[in-house]
Amino acid sequence: MERDLVLYASLVLLLVPHVAGGIVLGRKAAAGGGVRGETESYAVIFDAGSTGSRVHVFRFDENMNLVNIGDDIELYVAVKPGLSSYADDPQEAANSLIPLLEEAESVVPEELQPTTPVRLGATAGLRNLGDEKSEEILQAVRDLLQTNSSLEYESEWVTVLEGYQEGSYLWVAMNYLLGNLGNKYSDTVGVVDLGGGSVQMAYAVSEEAAANAPNISNGDDPYVTKQLLNETNYYLYAYSYLNFGLLAARAEILEAVDDPYSYCMLGGYTGTYEYNGEVYNASASPSGSSYNKCRTEAIKTLKINETCTYEDCSFGGVWSGGGGDGQKNIYVASFFYDRAAQVGFIDPEEPSALVTPSDFEEAAKTACNLSLEEANVTYPNVAADDLPYICMDLAYEYTLLVNGFGLEPSQEITLVSKVKYGDSYVGAAWPLGSAIEVVSSQSTQSLAMKKIRPLWLQW
Ligand SMILES: *[C@@H]1O[C@H](CO)[C@@H](O)[C@H](O)[C@H]1NC(C)=O
Ligand SMILES: *[C@@H]1O[C@H](CO)[C@@H](O)[C@H](O)[C@H]1NC(C)=O
Ligand SMILES: *[C@@H]1O[C@H](CO)[C@@H](O)[C@H](O)[C@H]1NC(C)=O
Ligand SMILES: *[C@@H]1O[C@H](CO)[C@@H](O)[C@H](O)[C@H]1NC(C)=O
Ligand SMILES: *[C@@H]1O[C@H](CO)[C@@H](O)[C@H](O)[C@H]1NC(C)=O
Ligand SMILES: *[C@@H]1O[C@H](CO)[C@@H](O)[C@H](O)[C@H]1NC(C)=O
Ligand SMILES: *[C@@H]1O[C@H](CO)[C@@H](O)[C@H](O)[C@H]1NC(C)=O
Repeated sequence: MERDLVLYASLVLLLVPHVAGGIVLGRKAAAGGGVRGETESYAVIFDAGSTGSRVHVFRFDENMNLVNIGDDIELYVAVKPGLSSYADDPQEAANSLIPLLEEAESVVPEELQPTTPVRLGATAGLRNLGDEKSEEILQAVRDLLQTNSSLEYESEWVTVLEGYQEGSYLWVAMNYLLGNLGNKYSDTVGVVDLGGGSVQMAYAVSEEAAANAPNISNGDDPYVTKQLLNETNYYLYAYSYLNFGLLAARAEILEAVDDPYSYCMLGGYTGTYEYNGEVYNASASPSGSSYNKCRTEAIKTLKINETCTYEDCSFGGVWSGGGGDGQKNIYVASFFYDRAAQVGFIDPEEPSALVTPSDFEEAAKTACNLSLEEANVTYPNVAADDLPYICMDLAYEYTLLVNGFGLEPSQEITLVSKVKYGDSYVGAAWPLGSAIEVVSSQSTQSLAMKKIRPLWLQW
């Protein structure tokens, strides 16, 4: 790890555009000449998810602050379905992005378009398609951006994101919005992001902890990357637990139970659960759900006792990063926020709320005591499809926080969907982190922008 850090640090020096005597050298730097960066710069980020494709356009001023595009803090447009729905027609997949691309280009001033980077990160949907099909789709997207877009584009900007990259981009986005970049690592926040397929944990660790990170074998994702953000070096722990997202965990729980049914299912439900092409019997026990028995099932699913070769482990044999000050304040996003808002222990009108893991436990105990019919009355804001799983989801979320990530049940955590930024609220999601990375690593004009240039060591 140490050795790698040194190697990458010297590599990075080479990647930084050189500005010598007013003459800008290097391809990226040359592309960045002219108007770009004098006052503002834009970034166009496609988020190719499993259920749909979205585009985000961000606009930064010379101090690297976000500024409005029209009336909003970002341009955001989405289409359904996602790229993976066009598995057998890569061209159609790429074409599905054209309306998004047109919208994005329409808000970037024409003279800035050639120096405005466009990136696409694909997540679970394409990952599950397999290498060959997903590469064909990505190639069609590259061709589209090459021939039909006036934006600045490089082929390696169109990729399937590694899970840890999603986590670290979210960490960058969250800490940027909170104004923490430049603070010492103990004054940053850690992030937990519970998606459908996977759950990500990311937080900053000390240099010593980074040096003790387990050596990873070839091909595996690194546990820790070093990044320079706003003149400050961070050692960022990020890990993505594949198949421990909320929807994947339902399948794991239903599959893992020894009984003919899961005690997490609300009484009165008969039916099946489908995930990733597999169908599971999800019918409830005749006696209905039980909080205690559901907890046992959830704990079993997390494989807490799986052999772990490291000193500090979370679950499933994964190194936890060792904890520390960068994990003192945790911002918890996505399904954690959604379920809490839907069952009503936080106000859905509020973009963030302070809670404890115990709040999830209390909510689970209440939910697991209800039949499906009763829950239908108690939880008008839970979608019909999710209702039979509401005991399971809440019990799993509590188990993940406490037994999985090792939080104290009484530790305060922040549930977050949006972060207040100036007069606006900005969605906390990975595309902003990707935009910050690409804009700050490219800008050649503004000193402020150069200061926030991140170094991504294992990109
Ligand atoms: C893309 O660009 C090519 C070549 O400029 C053009 O022939 C084609 O019509 C364009 N396609 C779309 C969908 O804009
Ligand atoms: C960078 O850090 C300085 C102080 O350390 C802070 O004033 C500034 O807002 C930070 N910039 C960003 C974009 O976070
Ligand atoms: C990782 O490998 C390097 C050299 O290959 C070694 O010096 C270091 O102690 C190893 N670190 C751990 C935590 O095993
Ligand atoms: C599902 O499980 C229930 C309870 O054990 C059982 O009665 C039912 O026949 C099962 N359904 C299927 C399709 O296997
Ligand atoms: C894990 O191991 C501990 C100690 O050996 C034991 O007390 C606990 O019940 C085990 N948990 C599970 C889920 O097997
Ligand atoms: C659940 O139901 C049992 C039996 O009806 C009751 O004793 C218990 O207080 C209930 N728990 C909650 C959290 O409502
Ligand atoms: C929930 O209630 C609505 C109307 O109040 C009804 O249409 C629906 O069938 C109920 N669903 C269940 C699962 O009981």
